[in-house]
Amino acid sequence: MIRFHSVYMATINNNINPFVWSNMKLSTGCSPLDAILNGGMESGTITELYGGGGTGKTNLCLQLTRNAALQGKKVLYLDTEGVSTERLKQMSRGRSDEVLQNTLFFRAHSFEEQEKRLDEIERISFSGNLDLGLIVVDSMTIFYRTLLNSKDHQNATSRLGRQMIKLLRIARKIDVPVLITTQVYQNQSDGSEQPVGGHMLYHNSKTILKIEKGRGRHSRRVCIIKHRSVPERESIECRICDDGIVSFE
Ligand SMILES: Nc1ncnc2c1ncn2[C@@H]1O[C@H](COP(=O)(O)OP(=O)(O)OP(=O)(O)O)[C@@H](O)[C@H]1O
Ligand SMILES: [Mg+2]
Repeated sequence: MIRFHSVYMATINNNINPFVWSNMKLSTGCSPLDAILNGGMESGTITELYGGGGTGKTNLCLQLTRNAALQGKKVLYLDTEGVSTERLKQMSRGRSDEVLQNTLFFRAHSFEEQEKRLDEIERISFSGNLDLGLIVVDSMTIFYRTLLNSKDHQNATSRLGRQMIKLLRIARKIDVPVLITTQVYQNQSDGSEQPVGGHMLYHNSKTILKIEKGRGRHSRRVCIIKHRSVPERESIECRICDDGIVSFE
């Protein structure tokens, strides 16, 4: 099911639009994060964002959606968790009509539906009818996770792999950034937090970011786990506010 937001006239507040496309990078709107990403999210590739519950994954998805939409680009947003459009409006302030107008939400309630929605996203992407600025899947693995302990585990992993290949194909053909999220589980042997989806997500993502809660109530830490041109383990501190995840300054 595709839900198109209605189109209507908006009062545009020109005071907030610090987000630019530079060298096919989509700014996150968080200056220290952009700095360690060499400008922002890379087009033509998949970026994986992982972290525990409530760390801010959806916040980042929404603010990147806002940033792409405010550039007049369309965003295809596959929501598997029940995203809050209220939060997107809050982040978009006086320009929420414009942002919603440029955002196409897709919803999935099972792994099968997720596959179908991704087929639709592929079809729409390749139709050439939309000037695409971003594709989001939040979360990529919520349904996959439920299949991990079933006899269908192997089959589910193959299907997840095919979904990733599909997203990669879209990213590369359309030269659009793709952002996926996943939660974490605790590794039994060493107690470390690992992203759900493991190597299926790892190998198909050119950038992997980990987000975790920081010391302060609103503070967060984002760490580079994998990147083509940035050293691993670079990290930044930031905070969550009405505008999303932003720098401390
Ligand atoms: N306006 C706001 N100002 C400050 N913090 C906020 C605001 N809105 C939401 N938050 C914080 O954002 C956090 C939730 O972030 P988010 O929904 O992005 O987490 P998540 O990583 O997607 O979690 P999950 O894995 O459960 O989906 C909560 O700590 C919440 O308090
Ligand atoms: Mg979330």
